[in-house]
Amino acid sequence: MAEKIIILGSEGQVGTDLAASLRAVYGKNNVVCSDIKPATEEKQDLGPYEELNVLDRNAITETFRKHKPTMVYHLAAMLSATAEKFPRKGWDLNMEGMFSIFDACMEFDVKRVFWPSSIAVFGPNTPRIDTPQFCVMDPNTIYGISKLAGERFCEYYHQKYGLDVRSIRYPGLIGWKAKPGGGTTDYAVDIFHQALIQNQYTCFLKADTALPMMYMDDAIKATINVTEADSNLIKIRSSYNLSGMSFDPKTLSDEIARQRPGFHIDYDIDGRQQIAESWPQSIDDSAARNDWGWKPDFSLETMVSEMLKQLSKMGVGAN
Ligand code: SER
Repeated sequence: MAEKIIILGSEGQVGTDLAASLRAVYGKNNVVCSDIKPATEEKQDLGPYEELNVLDRNAITETFRKHKPTMVYHLAAMLSATAEKFPRKGWDLNMEGMFSIFDACMEFDVKRVFWPSSIAVFGPNTPRIDTPQFCVMDPNTIYGISKLAGERFCEYYHQKYGLDVRSIRYPGLIGWKAKPGGGTTDYAVDIFHQALIQNQYTCFLKADTALPMMYMDDAIKATINVTEADSNLIKIRSSYNLSGMSFDPKTLSDEIARQRPGFHIDYDIDGRQQIAESWPQSIDDSAARNDWGWKPDFSLETMVSEMLKQLSKMGVGAN
């Protein structure tokens, strides 16, 4: 049977890239995009699009009935910094959104579901260097708490109801097709826009705040690979650690300056520093490597050169 895919949250940072990749593989009509953002002609030209709120169970049922998905990627969520501003809303969107999609997947016999977790599931008592797959997890942000609870439900739905959920813990994601919204790692995307616009960036994290990061192409590869891997290879049913690279703002800005002479960084620290300090600096992803063959392609150097090249092509900083 041909695959039919629904992406929830297709207008977000990951969704934008994932939709383009999946449509290239499966054909545009076999990948239904959906987001709370209204449909536009431009979006509909790219393929089927549904305006959908993941908290509206009736609308979700209708959408699943109409498109009969075989695979679902549920990406709609509120990220760390925004959820700290709207804790109750963040919790409701992240948890209720997950339940409504998982329940619809059960009702309509969806073969596979992808649900993203995050490095935000770790907390101040987690080992911060080469953070192991299994260790103390004491997240102290609403986003992290919702992701950790979500991971437990992924495993629960798999064990109790047989739902084939796949999940990875995304590090900070860096891509050029869409900007992130409301995350603590957003600086690592903004910095490229400002480098091209004014060759200067004011960073809201301290110079030596190292965090795990990943270029978007690697994240999309991991997302599709973990979702399409044979079921017997997926040994972890909560969520896999995933690593690409690790750097702090100073190291990133040095590499940008190497490739774009004259670039310089300033610092104006805000509340996101505290969130970043509760997260790991680097991640041990040996389980993902061993179980389903994970291996990233991009280094700091190739990521920086790709970001500068692609954003320049898009005309960022052209005027
Ligand atoms: N990039 C996310 C954030 O900063 C972490 O998953 O919220």
